[in-house]
Amino acid sequence: MATSAAPRENAVPFEITDPKRVPAQRYYSRAFHELEKEKLWSRVWQVAARLEEIPRVGDFTEYTINDQSLLIVREADGDEGIKAYFNACRHRATALGTGTGTFHGKQIVCPYHGWRWNLDGSNSYVYAERGFTPACLDKDFLRLREAKVGVWGHMVFVNLDTECEPFEDFIGGIAEILEPIGFDRMRVRWWKHVILPGNWKMAQEAFLEAYHVMQAHPSLSMGAADEDYDLDLQGGPFECLPQGHAHSTPAPVSEGGESPVKGMSMADYFIQFNNALYFGTDSYTTEREMFVQQGLLEKDIPDEEFIPAFFEALYEYARGAGIDLPAPATETTGYGHIFPNLTFLPAYGNSIIYRVRPFEDDPEKCVFEVWAVQIPTADAGDPERPELEGPVPVEEWPQIFKEDYRNIIAQQRGIHTKGFDDMVLSERYEAMIVNSHAVIDTYLRRP
Ligand code: FES
Ligand SMILES: [Fe+2]
Repeated sequence: MATSAAPRENAVPFEITDPKRVPAQRYYSRAFHELEKEKLWSRVWQVAARLEEIPRVGDFTEYTINDQSLLIVREADGDEGIKAYFNACRHRATALGTGTGTFHGKQIVCPYHGWRWNLDGSNSYVYAERGFTPACLDKDFLRLREAKVGVWGHMVFVNLDTECEPFEDFIGGIAEILEPIGFDRMRVRWWKHVILPGNWKMAQEAFLEAYHVMQAHPSLSMGAADEDYDLDLQGGPFECLPQGHAHSTPAPVSEGGESPVKGMSMADYFIQFNNALYFGTDSYTTEREMFVQQGLLEKDIPDEEFIPAFFEALYEYARGAGIDLPAPATETTGYGHIFPNLTFLPAYGNSIIYRVRPFEDDPEKCVFEVWAVQIPTADAGDPERPELEGPVPVEEWPQIFKEDYRNIIAQQRGIHTKGFDDMVLSERYEAMIVNSHAVIDTYLRRP
């Protein structure tokens, strides 16, 4: 007797069956969004805070993901002293903190009936406790519920699943690769966000390839022709890891080479590129590098000597200022991506870091955040607790961000149109996107 194949367990709606094609519904389906909430965001390691947000014992900052809220609390000095508590009073669920602040007297106090907790999560006080039965006052029962915590690159990662894989297994491969860049030494210069009318993946994917630079960012592509598109120069090829992380190491600009723009010297290309990034992002290239570059432009340096001279001057400046810059080698630039939602574009001891999350339980809205970070001077002292600016409207961002945001918005409009079924991807140029979708599905398939 013929039997039809039994339906697969944990079938994923709109799953990836061909790595080069991404079903459109993954960017707007309510069912897919719900599955991501349940199987991805509730189980994956994700960045909840920068360490600068909780410098002193008693400091806290709130992290929200979908309908979940966590309080990231500094209980003691050092990485071990960081806790992540589900933000709900053990009495009647009142949220115990909002935004950023400090628990004075090292006590977490519920604003409703005044129950209190020590910073280690143990209960310290129940008002008029004689009115409760002993079981309700059990010490373990009263403890604040905790999520898992990991620290890497001056960032606090959390996992809502207490049965999750160890943080070291999750971050292992990519941490080693990104280590030479020196993220742990970088501190926040500014931190802004925008609410975009686009799925979180749509927004993220605008930053997981450089293939769009030719059309979307004229100030960066400078008229480079189709035949001159060179993935090696743009930041590829990409190495993708099984955890979903990825990275790339472009050809080291410090060694010169040929400009991707016909008729333009590598030195001119390099200078224009720095200018475009400084004015267009104020993060990848900063005042510091512009100062060094300007100093050299005032001397008459031949083209072929300009880039080595820039790096020499930059490192001399850094030594003088006590800035512990990473080596100017291939591994200090390029792309870094930590699954599922963190992307780095580092250069010169700076980086842009992007984090994207769904917004207000809407599959078609996201919070897109940008941290501009930099290795500070030796005498900089402890930075202020960074404050999140915004939401900054799209049109008020520097040029290059604006160009990216506009495309994300246009894409989210297009994704609904009749006859559009799948995104098509280049497995070479868009390898990080391909890998990210595949790993999302491995989470969604788990029971
Ligand atoms: S809800 Fe927190 S003490 Fe009552
Ligand atoms: Fe871009």
